[in-house]
This record gives sequence, C-alpha cells and structure tokens, in this order.
Amino acid sequence: MASQSAASIDNVMHESRVFPPPAEFSAAARVKSLDEYQALWDRAAADPLAFWADLAREELHWFEPFTETLQWNEPFAKWFVGGKTNAAYNCLDKHVAEGRGDRTAILWEGEPGDTRTLTYAELLSEVCKFANVLKSVGVGVGDVVSIYMPMTPELAVAMLACARIGAIHSVIFAGFSAEAIADRNNDAKAKVQLTADGAWRRGKALPLKETVDEALAKSHTVETCIALKRIGEPVAMQDGRDHWWHELMEAASDDCPATPLDSETTLFILYTSGSTGKPKGIRHTTAGYNLYAKKTFQWVFDHRDDDVYWCTADCGWITGHSYLVYGPLAAGAACVMYEGAPNFPAEDRFWDIVEKYKVTTFYTAPTAIRAFIKWGDEHVEKHDLSSLRLLGTVGEGINPAAWLWYHEKIGGGRCPIVDTWWQTETGGIMMSPLPGAIPTKPGSCTKPLPGIMPKIVDPMGDEVGENQGGWLTISHPWPGMLRGIWGDDQRYEEVYWSKTPGMYLAGDNARRDEDGYYWIMGRIDDVLNVSGHRLSTIEIESALVSHPKVAEAAAVGRPDELKGEAVAVFVSLAAGVEATDELRDELKQHVRHEIGALAQPDDIRFTAALPKTRSGKIMRRLLKDIAAGKETVGDTTTLEDYTVLAKLRSDDA
Ligand code: WT7
Repeated sequence: MASQSAASIDNVMHESRVFPPPAEFSAAARVKSLDEYQALWDRAAADPLAFWADLAREELHWFEPFTETLQWNEPFAKWFVGGKTNAAYNCLDKHVAEGRGDRTAILWEGEPGDTRTLTYAELLSEVCKFANVLKSVGVGVGDVVSIYMPMTPELAVAMLACARIGAIHSVIFAGFSAEAIADRNNDAKAKVQLTADGAWRRGKALPLKETVDEALAKSHTVETCIALKRIGEPVAMQDGRDHWWHELMEAASDDCPATPLDSETTLFILYTSGSTGKPKGIRHTTAGYNLYAKKTFQWVFDHRDDDVYWCTADCGWITGHSYLVYGPLAAGAACVMYEGAPNFPAEDRFWDIVEKYKVTTFYTAPTAIRAFIKWGDEHVEKHDLSSLRLLGTVGEGINPAAWLWYHEKIGGGRCPIVDTWWQTETGGIMMSPLPGAIPTKPGSCTKPLPGIMPKIVDPMGDEVGENQGGWLTISHPWPGMLRGIWGDDQRYEEVYWSKTPGMYLAGDNARRDEDGYYWIMGRIDDVLNVSGHRLSTIEIESALVSHPKVAEAAAVGRPDELKGEAVAVFVSLAAGVEATDELRDELKQHVRHEIGALAQPDDIRFTAALPKTRSGKIMRRLLKDIAAGKETVGDTTTLEDYTVLAKLRSDDA
C-alpha cells in the first residue's frame, strides 16, 4: 500500500461485493439497465443545456416561458432566465388542474399517535389560506419568514405558502437554541416568525414558543410571530406581535392564486449545520431547484403512482426540503410524514409506521441505521415489512456492515439501496444508483445522475488517477446548485470556487474505482496524515464498525512527533458489550487486519455516545481537539448534546 502522491489519499478499503438490481425491479423501473442509464447520462453530458431545457419545459408549469436556459457568470448562475413559474403551483395546483386533486399528498402521524391525511386538493386549500394569512401580516415577495415548527403538516403548509407568494422561507430545525435562532434571524433579516406552542419529543413537550420568545428578544427585524397550537400548554403571547395560527386561519379565504415568479426568485435560505465555522445561509431559487428536486426524486426513487414514500428527515434539513416537500410533491407522490422520535414509545416505531402505511420507499440516515442495529433485531422482526421495495440513505457514508444489515434486515434482501451523495448546497441528489439500472456496492454512492459531471482532482486542479483519492468537484453548473451564501458573495466564491477555478469544490474527498464508481472518503478537513500516508476517516471507521462488538466509531488524527499524526479513535460499543483492555487490543488488531498496520489505531477510547450535530453528523473537529488534549475552539452551537462533550472530557482527566 504505497502513497501515490503527496496530494492523493490512499485507498485502503477493499469492498468487492456487488449487488445487481433484482430482475423484477429492473423490468418495471423507469431506467432499466446500465446501458439505458449510460445513454441518458451521455445525452445529458453532450448537451447539458438542451437536456435541462427540455426537462424544464416538460416538468414545470410556466406562466411565461423562459428565453435563455443558463446565464453563467462564474460562479453566479441564472437558470431558465425570463421564465415565470411558481414552486407551490408545481407541487399542488398542477395536480389538481390535471384531475389528481383527490390523490393523497401527506399521510401524517404525530408522535402521540394522532393522524391526519391530506389530499392534494386539501393541501392546496390550506396553503392558499395560509398564504393569505401571510399577506395579511404584510409578507410579500422577497420577505424572509423564519420557521421554527414541529414536524406537522402545517410546517409543509408554511413552506409552500411562502413559495406561493414569493416570500423566502428559512426553516430552522426545532431543536436549535434561542441563540442559534436569533443568529439566523438576524443574518437573514427575518420579518415574520412561525412557531408552535410546543413539540412532542419522546413523550415530552418541548417549549418551542418559550425558546422563540427568547430568540425574538434578540431578533429585532421580526415584527410578527404566528404560533400553531400543537401541545395545548399555556404560553405567553405578546400583544401586537403574537397571533394564534388557528385564529388567523379561521378568517382567511382559500382563494389565493399562485404569484407568477421569475425563475431566479429566491425560494429559501437554509443555514447549514456546518461542522466548522459560522453557519452559512445557503440560497436556492425557484425554477432550477424545483425542477432538480422533482427529476432527481423520480430517477432515484424510481417513483410510481402506487408508491407510499417515506423520508424520515426533518424539514429543518435540506433532505426535508427536497425529498419531503419540493421533490415528491412536485412528482405527485403520497408522502408519509412523522413528527417524533424513532424510539417512542418503543424502538420499533419506524417499523410500526412502515407496516401501518404499507410504505414502499424508505429513505433515512446511516446514523439512524446504526441506532437500529444497536437496539436489536427483535424490534424489526415484530413487523411485516414486505411492502418495502426500495431503501435509501443520505447524510454521511454508510459503512458496508451497516449497509448489509439494512439490506438484509429491513429490505429482506430484495430491495435495492440507493446511497445518495449530495449536500445542502447541491439542492438535490448528485450521485446515487438508479435502482433499476446500476448494480450497487456497499459503501459506494455509485454513479453521477444525468447532467452531473464530477471530477476528482488534486490541489493543482489536475484529475487524479483511478482509485486515487482527491478532491471531489463538479465541472458543469446544474439547475439545483446553490446560487450563493445569503449576503456574502465573497465567502461563496472563496469556499466553493477559489481553490478549483471552473469547478464547484464540494469539500469532500472521493475516489473513482475501476468501474467508474465513486467512493466518498470524508470531508477534506478530516483527512489523517500518518507517516506521509493520507488516510480517510470513513475507511478506518468502516473497519471498526465491521467488528460485531462496535456500534459506532469516529477516527481523527492526533499530532505525533514521529508519524506526523497518530490515529485516535472513539468507539461506542454494541449493547451489552463491556469495555476492556482486551477488547481495545482486539480492535487494534482488527483494523490492522482489515486495512493494514498503517491504519492501526494508536489510541482507542470507549464512549457511550459520540458528539454529533443535530442532523446526526459526527463532529470530528471536536474529537480532534479532545484527542490532542486541547480546549475546544470554534462554533459548537450545532452540537446536539453538550453532555457528550463534557463526558468525553472528564474521561480524559
Ligand atoms: C455532506 C453534506 C445531503 C443532505 C443531508 C446532508 C456528507 C451526504 C453522503 C453519502 C457520504 C455523504 C458529505 C457531504 N454526505 N451524503 N451518501 N455518502 N457522505 O447535507 O448537511 O449539507 O452535508 O454530508 O460529506 O458533503 P449536508
């Protein structure tokens, strides 16, 4: 295992299992074979603008047609210039107008077990009413509406109502602190705040309104606050500023035609969970984003009319925006939406929901899959999951061991898994198997979607060789790409375009194998440099998680005089496993055996939990500080559970 060049990252993972799509699945799929996929990809690559222009005309409703497909003034893109459309119209009115108003749009289940079903026509009527409510409190085109709400249908209604009238939503995950809300509100200059009296989380009421009150004391641009009654607990209402959702809705008319909006009207800002630095307000616009979310949803989830689709993400993340709201609704899908925790009242809640609604397509995060594995197979085995036909993952790399468990235990060995690589910035999925066409390899996001041209380069911008790790870039603009960072063009250029001119720098490392499959190797900043060999965090972690006694692992570099960096790993064990020195040695040997002596961990620390962002990403930056014995520096506002950090530190002492 030699280091190929100073710039590249050593590939030490040897995953050779291949899972072709089941013949039955391919026969009924939108894209049926590797050849068909390749032809589609080639056609898009030969003339990306014609490819996207045709799709935009077919898939979106145009009040006025666009006259130019792309204006590219690197790094600033304008797609479908001159056209007028509306994302709420594409998600709702279009279906009703085409006679599909009675189809189910949202199958909602609250954490306590209450349920609601909304058809497309019903959802449209709610959205129109709430759009009128927003107008009545002075919201118009270009105003920012901050949304801090539980996962109720009203959260989707609020987003679509903004879209309908050209207001910009900024959804903030309802687990963030008052400080984090105020920061985001001030950065966005939010005019209106939407919230609820509370949210249910593991049977307890979270006091959302109280948190919002604290945030609004520091958000001076917010004039109005509208609160949904979800919990029924009394809350303080400030005269003149605060209103109840249901009272304003009672008075509102459901007549509110969608405003024809320029293609490039800002649809939303979404602050990234960011494992480093000050949160960035990622800006997405109307037509390009809506088209990209819809098309990628159809391709990747192979959407059919009889599907029941469930994306477990919260609307506070981009996954909730693109694959719970704008993608599936534009495609006319029936979407399950669940309010609460996966382990309430018990660890089988998700499987209970899959069985109850006969979910066909299930999309979740590797962090959740690892939790299910830890909780034990008995929770899965209680339920009939035979309705499932397709599984997906998003958010981080999935370790092959977890992939195989997901495939076997949840998918019964018959469901393809789509490992989808993308980012808040990309607006939608960039690389993923098309499930009827592309054979999968556990741990690989396989191939780029049509119209997406990835390139792996070294810091000079030169393409690296096969199986060599390097920086993942995208070499042609695509409709779903971010249009900038809210209020900070300079940071946008600097972060994504300055180091690799002409290419979008994703910030991840990746390699491409001999079959043209892509393997994400972790964030650029997370690379370990051991004795001049650059190792990827994901590979070391995958090796650890493949050991039956390990539930989760994080690998970071610690300064070492001799080797440059030593490998420090943090491991949380499977239920019932005791942390012993023998196990520590066993794990070191295991990594040595799986990857090689070079990657053998120098330190192994056992921990009950790893520090994560609220979206479930391990915050390796914090672990790096701990491993080095340093004080934590930088932003920790996105950390989910501060006690984890405190515990890791006290173990240290
Ligand atoms: C970062 C983006 C994409 C929506 C949710 C997260 C990592 C995401 C994968 C995957 C390996 C992945 C990358 C990426 N990531 N999906 N399938 N395999 N890594 O959005 O918070 O913007 O994070 O998540 O590092 O850059 P985000």
